[in-house]
Amino acid sequence: MHTQISRRSFLQLTSGAALLPASALEALAQGANGPLKIATIGAGNIGGGLGRLWVKAGHSVFFSSLNPDELKPMVAELGPLARAGTTAQAIPNGDIILLSVPYRAIPGLGKEFAEALKGKIIIDTCNATPARDGEELVAMSKQKTIGVLTASFFPGARMVRGFNSIGAKILQDNAGRAGDKLPIPIASDDKAAADVVARLVRDAGFEPVMAGALTKSGEFSMGNPGYGVHANAAALKKILGVAE
Ligand SMILES: NC(=O)c1ccc[n+]([C@@H]2O[C@H](COP(=O)([O-])OP(=O)(O)OC[C@H]3O[C@@H](n4cnc5c(N)ncnc54)[C@H](OP(=O)(O)O)[C@@H]3O)[C@@H](O)[C@H]2O)c1
Repeated sequence: MHTQISRRSFLQLTSGAALLPASALEALAQGANGPLKIATIGAGNIGGGLGRLWVKAGHSVFFSSLNPDELKPMVAELGPLARAGTTAQAIPNGDIILLSVPYRAIPGLGKEFAEALKGKIIIDTCNATPARDGEELVAMSKQKTIGVLTASFFPGARMVRGFNSIGAKILQDNAGRAGDKLPIPIASDDKAAADVVARLVRDAGFEPVMAGALTKSGEFSMGNPGYGVHANAAALKKILGVAE
């Protein structure tokens, strides 16, 4: 489990981390109250919905999609913390990138933007389905584990798998719900990056569940027991076999 690995080990071992001084990483991870700079690649059901929640929590969000003009009404409604443009315009405006596109777009995005994304935290929400994304990517995602596969397209980025396992409407309907918060599993090989994403999970009104390394992302990928768990963090931790 990654909680057994010290932050120092993560800083030394992760190539993305090497691109930022430790003090900047620490500041980002520990910046409990300061607003964060988020950019989205994809602004549909998940990217648009989560971005809205983060703007409402006080973060700046630069939304991007294939047709950014269509995002103008949304950013106008959200106010000055929200902007929209192309993916190339979005990336420099985010320390944290929400990647939320059909999985079939990921190899091409990797070719075009991996260099610009080096050292940035990426939150990968993307699921691979045969009908939409093709049998080959689905097979690769099962063979390598989906979070590991996504990371392979963005070498040097600080990959965190999260927000892939709950439907967009359920996220919107349950953000900040009373009682047990909706649990969101997170997996990453980079503890400092996972801590930042855990904060964003909380800021959106949910409860993070640290599943462990990226290889654990398979346990909450589509069709597996950790996918679609709505009850509470304790139930999800039990399924994923992580400590309370
Ligand atoms: N919907 C859910 O309940 C749900 C839940 C968990 C995870 N997911 C996963 O999260 C991802 C996004 O799902 P979604 O429902 O939000 O999809 P969606 O509503 O169809 O939105 C996809 C977004 O990606 C943009 N896009 C597509 N190709 C792109 C590219 N090459 N470069 C930049 N932007 C691109 C689209 O832009 P345009 O609109 O301009 O074409 C759109 O903004 C998928 O992988 C999905 O499997 C979905």
